[in-house]
Amino acid sequence: MTNIIDFLFQRGEQRGHLRPVNRNDWAQIVGWWNDPEVRHLYDVHFVNQTFSDAEKWFRKTETGEEDREPRSFMIEVEVNGKWVPVGTAELYSERPSHKTVEFGFMIGDKNWWGKGIGTETAKKMVEYGFTLGYHRIGAVSAAYNVRSMNALQKAGFQIEGIRKSYVFRDGQYHDQTFMSVVKEV
Ligand SMILES: CC(C)(COP(=O)(O)OP(=O)(O)OC[C@H]1O[C@@H](n2cnc3c(N)ncnc32)[C@H](O)[C@@H]1OP(=O)(O)O)[C@@H](O)C(=O)NCCC(=O)NCCS
Repeated sequence: MTNIIDFLFQRGEQRGHLRPVNRNDWAQIVGWWNDPEVRHLYDVHFVNQTFSDAEKWFRKTETGEEDREPRSFMIEVEVNGKWVPVGTAELYSERPSHKTVEFGFMIGDKNWWGKGIGTETAKKMVEYGFTLGYHRIGAVSAAYNVRSMNALQKAGFQIEGIRKSYVFRDGQYHDQTFMSVVKEV
């Protein structure tokens, strides 16, 4: 296994891929997390983040077993023959004995929002999660994050429920949506 997951977007006309995150990516990722527009939508990182927060976050997705398949990926798109990082996707908070894990994604470069990358990434990460042996993949989203919920639903996630008033943003409370995709047996 090469640990590179290829996908196509914009009606199959443009190439993207997922490749494992490494330490050299963290500064860029922290920059994306701290963009107010991204942070408004990205549920996990709602306060100003530092390099050491990135370290903690990516440790959460890995177990320290070096020969294990990666759980955190950079999303890259091909522009003029070069791979350009535009966001991240990860499987985190796994519960090995229950074979469940959570999925998170973020296009940090806003120029690439709404072009189908999130949908294709979610589809590929679900496929990947199932090949790793997970039985259920969960995701959460602020209920106002319509684009995220649409991308997840197009990748097979279904809405399970709402956690009321769970997200405090812009001076008010918002609901959080729980979603999941369960492997058919
Ligand atoms: C959420 C996110 C990953 C989605 O990825 P994306 O590549 O922008 O989304 P897609 O282009 O795949 O769009 C998914 C669907 O959302 C809908 N959509 C697209 N633009 C939209 C907009 N401006 N408003 C509402 N819905 C929109 C469409 O239904 C689209 O499906 P379509 O391809 O049939 O039109 C990305 O927008 C992002 O990173 N946002 C900031 C961080 C974030 O929200 N992360 C997720 C936290 S749970």
